[in-house]
Amino acid sequence: MKQVRDFTISRIIYLNPENFIIELSSEDPIPEILPGSFAELKIDNDPDIFLRRPFSILDTDHENNLISFYIKIIGKGTRKLAGMKPGQIVNIIFPLGNSFTPVNDGKVLIVGGGSGIAPFILLGKDLLKRNNRISFLLGARTNKDIFLVDKFSNYGEVYITTEDGSLGEKGLVTHHSILKNNPGKFSQIYTCGPEPMMKAVANIANNHQIPCEVSLENTMACGFGACLCCVVATTGGNRCVCTEGPVFNVKDLKW
Ligand code: FES
Repeated sequence: MKQVRDFTISRIIYLNPENFIIELSSEDPIPEILPGSFAELKIDNDPDIFLRRPFSILDTDHENNLISFYIKIIGKGTRKLAGMKPGQIVNIIFPLGNSFTPVNDGKVLIVGGGSGIAPFILLGKDLLKRNNRISFLLGARTNKDIFLVDKFSNYGEVYITTEDGSLGEKGLVTHHSILKNNPGKFSQIYTCGPEPMMKAVANIANNHQIPCEVSLENTMACGFGACLCCVVATTGGNRCVCTEGPVFNVKDLKW
């Protein structure tokens, strides 16, 4: 059930000048968080920042009442968050949105492009408990934009592509040998990242009749279905990503 709660920043881990992880702690237990859901963070003390910002929930630590978010600095709000200090308060609304459909005993491919890796730590944890064999395929422009490989490797094999070839195979994720050579060996694909990448992954999944879910990163403003700025066209009509997503089966999307 959705909650509005103050958290205290316990630490901020800077991955590079433009990417960081913010870890928040609470005195109260963290509720169950399903993989794929997100939270709206309020950035206080800045009259220019009215709206909460949506972020996928990266990870939770139920023993220590911690919740964390991976954040890429893309504007004023995220820059402000990056400059906050441990001990400061962040109010969040969570968990929001739907979640990935879990599978059991499968061979799963998880494709994350750029900051689209954010929902996949929780998903990897959950799928491993469900006896899946997991392959993570992470793509970015350069090796400086590939993060959390150690964390992902706790849950499955990690494969990497970079556009400049500075780490892993050179090219786009869809050019990686794991997808080019024998995609049909996978029983399920999940993906999140830039829309052209997700569309290309969805095409491969469709061509091989592999079920595929995507987590959409449409721009959000209100976060509760009022402003309609996040709508996506589906076979059932327009849907709000904030309330009916962010996870969709690619077969339901009018791509
Ligand atoms: Fe306003 Fe989805 S963000 S309707």
